[in-house]
Amino acid sequence: MARKIIIDTDPGQDDAVAILLALASPELEVLGITCVAGNVPLSYTTTNARKICELAKRTDIRVFAGCDRPLRRKLVTAEYVHGKTGLDGVELPAPTMALQDQHAVDFLIETLRTEPEGSVTLVPIGPLTNIATAMQRAPDIIGRIGQIVLMGGAYFEVGNVTPAAEFNIYVDPQAAEIVFRSGVDLVVMPLDVTHKALTTRPRIEAFRALGHIGEVVASWTDFFERFDMEKYGSEGAPLHDPCTIAWLIAPDLFTGRRINVEIETASELTMGMTVADWWGVTKRPANALFIGSIDDDGFYTLLTERIATL
Ligand code: BDR
Ligand code: CA
Repeated sequence: MARKIIIDTDPGQDDAVAILLALASPELEVLGITCVAGNVPLSYTTTNARKICELAKRTDIRVFAGCDRPLRRKLVTAEYVHGKTGLDGVELPAPTMALQDQHAVDFLIETLRTEPEGSVTLVPIGPLTNIATAMQRAPDIIGRIGQIVLMGGAYFEVGNVTPAAEFNIYVDPQAAEIVFRSGVDLVVMPLDVTHKALTTRPRIEAFRALGHIGEVVASWTDFFERFDMEKYGSEGAPLHDPCTIAWLIAPDLFTGRRINVEIETASELTMGMTVADWWGVTKRPANALFIGSIDDDGFYTLLTERIATL
């Protein structure tokens, strides 16, 4: 039986690849896509999510609009990485499928209450505002979540948006704190692993050779890799968010360690830092499986094979 997931997202080219990978994978049943403000404002993320579903010819997927700003802080966006629309690259047609009327947070709460306990996995690949709001509003759902597999944070790699913090956690650290303290089984894909999932020319050309959808994916990676290559001097750009979906399909591609992770919410200097106790120095109980390494060739082979099926 396919594993039921809800993707909570702020697309974003790498979010888009994660969504395509999920839609291409029979091991997963996507119950819905909940959008949040992050890489770009909510009006763009909701439009982009529908464009991606239409690209994959999956107009049956329900897309929900969620929170348009973090719990307490002002929204910080990342157009400098993803472009004005968040999905710059080949321009996709405006979506014709409708956005659901229900708010994303209400959908999360209703689904977790109606599906069998422990059967739904949440996959947040943007700021954690929707998930934390649902937990605050309906604490009874917390024990019903099977697992949360999220992209966010960093340890050895430290920060990408400030010297101390990764973007998804930095944008809404209060939300991240709620999720990391919830007691739900967490799997975390930090920059330490996503920065090992780099695009290369042959990997991008393999996408491009797949036909229309592969060409679109190649145009996205071409667009955002210029930023990372300039910044890090790396050969390509990290495909952060698809690591979450790949872990659900092929966990053997990854290794990590169960550790305690706390979120900095007080100091402006280190706001949003994931204080990851990799060496177990605090004796605080582990609350997350923090992933550290990836078989990057296996990851790109999986991605290419699956996108070829769309
Ligand atoms: C994360 O931030 C966003 O820009 C990406 O989509 C990814 O979710 C990486 O820090
Ligand atoms: Ca994202």
